[in-house]
Order: sequence, then C-alpha cells, then structure tokens
Amino acid sequence: TRVMVINGPNLGRLGVREPDVYGSQDLKTLSADCVTWGQRLGLDVEVRQSDDEAEVIGWMHDAVDERTPVVMNPAAFTHYSYGLADAAHMVTDAGLPLMEVHISNPSARESFRKHSVISPVATGTITGMGFFGYKLALESVAYLLRQK
Ligand code: DQA
Repeated sequence: TRVMVINGPNLGRLGVREPDVYGSQDLKTLSADCVTWGQRLGLDVEVRQSDDEAEVIGWMHDAVDERTPVVMNPAAFTHYSYGLADAAHMVTDAGLPLMEVHISNPSARESFRKHSVISPVATGTITGMGFFGYKLALESVAYLLRQK
C-alpha cells in the first residue's frame, strides 16, 4: 500500500531551524527514515514537503482520487488553514486514514500553537515525539488498514 507522508511549510529547513525544538537532523534523514519504517510495515512511503498551501491541498485531492492513506505534519497550516482542514476532511470522509504528526508538542508552546484546525478531521494525532512520531503514525496507518 502506498502512503503519502506530507510535510508543510518550513519543514524543508529541519536541522537548521530551531534544532532545540525540532532536532538536528534534516528532512532528507526524516524521509529516509520514513521509507525504511514503511518498508518494515509493508508500506510504500512517498515523502513530500511544500511551503505552498495550494500544493498541499492538491495532494489531499490526489490522496482521495488515488485512495492513498496520509501521514501529515501540516506545520503552521495546522493553526489556521481551513482550506487544508476541508481538504483533509475529504480524505477521512473517503474512509482513508489521515494521521496528523507534530515533531514538537505544540500544546506546550506559544498559545497560537495550542489550537489545531486539522485535529478534528484527522483520524488521530501524535505530538511531541520528534521524528519517532512519524514511525508511530506509519504504524497507526498499518493498524488502521488491518482493521478494514
Ligand atoms: C510543527 C508545530 C507547528 O506549530 C509549527 O508551525 C511547525 C512544526 C511540529 O512539527 O512540531 O512548523 O508542526
């Protein structure tokens, strides 16, 4: 099964951006980790990153059309993008797993990070576990697909 792992704005700057919060490893490392974790679960993982809201919304539409489960770190879009929330809702409405992941624990940070517009339409959310959260999210997708 194919799984899209989608990363929102500024996550292409992992390793450089606030390493105390997001760690010192880069997106390339995260991508390779996700592919390896997926392989062990029998999942064909495709990692993407964009700073462009329209592009990320388009990937949600593709996920619906291609019936592809999603692991998504919506990054700052988490907190304000109703457009992305509506698109993410289409994915879960289509019966596809959509796991929301955050590297940090946004609840423990600035107040604007405490609210997610994505969580209400996600299948589940994993926060505060660093890159390991993506592994948990992929395991969750594998679990959810087995339930069907
Ligand atoms: C983030 C948390 C968001 O608040 C922030 O805007 C990000 C990354 C995380 O992975 O912890 O860009 O989604």
